[in-house]
Amino acid sequence: MSTSKLDISLTQELEALAREGRAKSPERIIEHYIPPKGELGPRYKLVGNDTEFIRLNSNSYLSLSNHGELTAAADKATRNFGVGPGAVRFIDGTFIHHVLLEKRVAKFVAKPAAKIFNSAYTSNCGLALSISNKKTHWIGDQLNHNSIIRAMRISNIPSANKGIFKHNDMADLKRRLDEVSPDMERVVVIFDGIFSMRGDCAPINEIKTICKAYDSKFKDGVITVVDDSHGIGAYGDTGRGTSDFCHAAPDIIIGTFGKAFGVNGGFIAASKTIIESVRQKADTYIYTNPLSVADCAAAVKAIDICDSAEGLELLKNLKQRTAQFRQGLERLGKESIPGPHPVVPLMVRDTQKTHQLVKYLFDHGVLVVGLTFPVVPKGDETIRFQINACHTSADIDYVIELLNNFQ
Ligand SMILES: Cc1ncc(COP(=O)(O)O)c(C=O)c1O
Repeated sequence: MSTSKLDISLTQELEALAREGRAKSPERIIEHYIPPKGELGPRYKLVGNDTEFIRLNSNSYLSLSNHGELTAAADKATRNFGVGPGAVRFIDGTFIHHVLLEKRVAKFVAKPAAKIFNSAYTSNCGLALSISNKKTHWIGDQLNHNSIIRAMRISNIPSANKGIFKHNDMADLKRRLDEVSPDMERVVVIFDGIFSMRGDCAPINEIKTICKAYDSKFKDGVITVVDDSHGIGAYGDTGRGTSDFCHAAPDIIIGTFGKAFGVNGGFIAASKTIIESVRQKADTYIYTNPLSVADCAAAVKAIDICDSAEGLELLKNLKQRTAQFRQGLERLGKESIPGPHPVVPLMVRDTQKTHQLVKYLFDHGVLVVGLTFPVVPKGDETIRFQINACHTSADIDYVIELLNNFQ
């Protein structure tokens, strides 16, 4: 037996992906991290390239990944408990670090309880497996992240029990709620907090008000869920995310430790009963090893920092650098999507020009991601810049100057 026949078929499928423009380009490999020095923020070196790159495509908004207290906490946990848990949570794979992180993140987002997962991706899937039944109707924003779309698929919801509303369109959300069959007992309205390709946010207060008006129509009510992976730690007055920004919290909050907190892993925060249902029913929690103790210890430290004067200072710097970059684009007359989030899209609106600009920035030591069809609709071709707290004023000026010189 060999896989040669399968290999031939897969090659044809991969060629088709490339022809449709949907194939991912080869992965660049980072081999050196160069700490900030003087006026310059951190730099990265790639295998086979001597350039010292600025990363403007990292989700590590608060730049905590290399923070000494996080690496020390991870080191200490590893030395004391080892590198891996040795089992899933319910077969004695639960260490004190897992429980402490669950308590810490629940407190941070002001919910009674939380469960941690290996990622926000598996958190979304876990939630769908836990709270969905045959009489559940799901409604989501049209631009929701792939993990939410996948979550709705794996929970085997019939297509009649699903509705999609136009991006951030509250009149359309109402229409989708009006369409829900009276036989349904439970409605889940789920949306990204920050839309990762655009940097705009869900109007949580408006969504909650609308959902409240429909709540009494259904036996278990209308439940609001935000996946605030790009908001938690990086948005709002105190970095508590989109709920902080909108002054309104959904019933269930999903997030990641892998972006602003600079570590890895995801979480669901909600009532104690919902969290116990997750523990009992979420396959992506039950049948897989948990995060390492190192990840958990580092994530607790990240939340502690985020909650401290140092965290507020990092957030302030993030906001200042973001504003500096946005103002720079405005000065150059470049089109973006307004808002204070550190995801700053530059609307290029042309595939070839997007590729050229990404290459030009790369050739001048700047890593960014270009989004072209079919990832975004034709005409919406974009370069996504992501500002991090570690970027200096000189770094931002350098990139704006590069954009100014691009022909
Ligand atoms: C809204 C949203 N959810 C989930 C994820 C995935 O997060 P994680 O890497 O923790 O799975 C992302 C990021 O890519 C995201 O933007």
